[in-house]
Amino acid sequence: MLVSMKDILKHANENNYAVMACNSVNMEMARAVITAAAEKHSPIIINLGVGQMAKLAHPTEMVPLIKELAESVDIPVALNLDHGMKYEDEIAAMQRGFTSVMIDCSSLPYEENVARVNNICTLAHAKGICVEGELGHVGQADVGDNEELDLYTNVAQARDYVDRTGIDCLAVAIGTAHGDYPKGMIPKLDFQRLAELKAELKMPLVLHGGSGAGAENIKKAVAGGINKINVCTDAFHAAEEAMKVAWAENPKTSYLEIMMIAEKAIKKFVSDYIDIIGSANRYGYGDVISDSKE
Ligand code: 13P
Repeated sequence: MLVSMKDILKHANENNYAVMACNSVNMEMARAVITAAAEKHSPIIINLGVGQMAKLAHPTEMVPLIKELAESVDIPVALNLDHGMKYEDEIAAMQRGFTSVMIDCSSLPYEENVARVNNICTLAHAKGICVEGELGHVGQADVGDNEELDLYTNVAQARDYVDRTGIDCLAVAIGTAHGDYPKGMIPKLDFQRLAELKAELKMPLVLHGGSGAGAENIKKAVAGGINKINVCTDAFHAAEEAMKVAWAENPKTSYLEIMMIAEKAIKKFVSDYIDIIGSANRYGYGDVISDSKE
């Protein structure tokens, strides 16, 4: 069922686990992500990025499809605008039925970030829509932004930011970045900062750049208070690798077959990721919660 991301993250925050938010750029990907989560009895979040929607994942087609898929399964599914920044993009997402919007003003001056995000919170909350903000800046892995300490989230400023914007969850910069890290590199995360942020804010925290961060880092981040993990690049890679193998084995593999192979690979990737972050069997609704107090 399609639900507010606020409900999903509230339960995750209260019960110390994280929910995967996987970008899904076409029908096969959305279906792979949602069916993997359904089989694991895990809540799931579908991210649609602004750039991705402009290029391929046209919201006019993807939003009805995701709503349909969400209503066909017995797990909570949220639909989140990923890295919206412009006012028009936020309004369009709210009108289309997204149950959450991220407004990423993290590269703007602080006061402008606060003002713009507060404005979106007022509009979104009136419609029961969840809002994710970002403070500090989660940059790009290929240029080493993950090691730029100046971009990390400042704890005192985060307190002020949350109070003044009214956001429901906060994306924090603690050492991950988007995309592929240089070959062989696993980022070093600032778990001390995460602990301080969680102790101060006590709210759902979001980790962007969930690809290539390493299972141990991810598990530790969840234990330290991360409740939503954004993943995109590694889901693409799972499909790409499977397609390459299939074509290497049989160059005549058809379009129909290759799309099925890609979907299966993404489904397995999501299923494995759910195991790492521990969201299986945690519907978050009533009697179906089995192990949240363990
Ligand atoms: P990755 O592509 O590094 O997994 O990051 C995804 C993300 O954070 C989307 O907001």
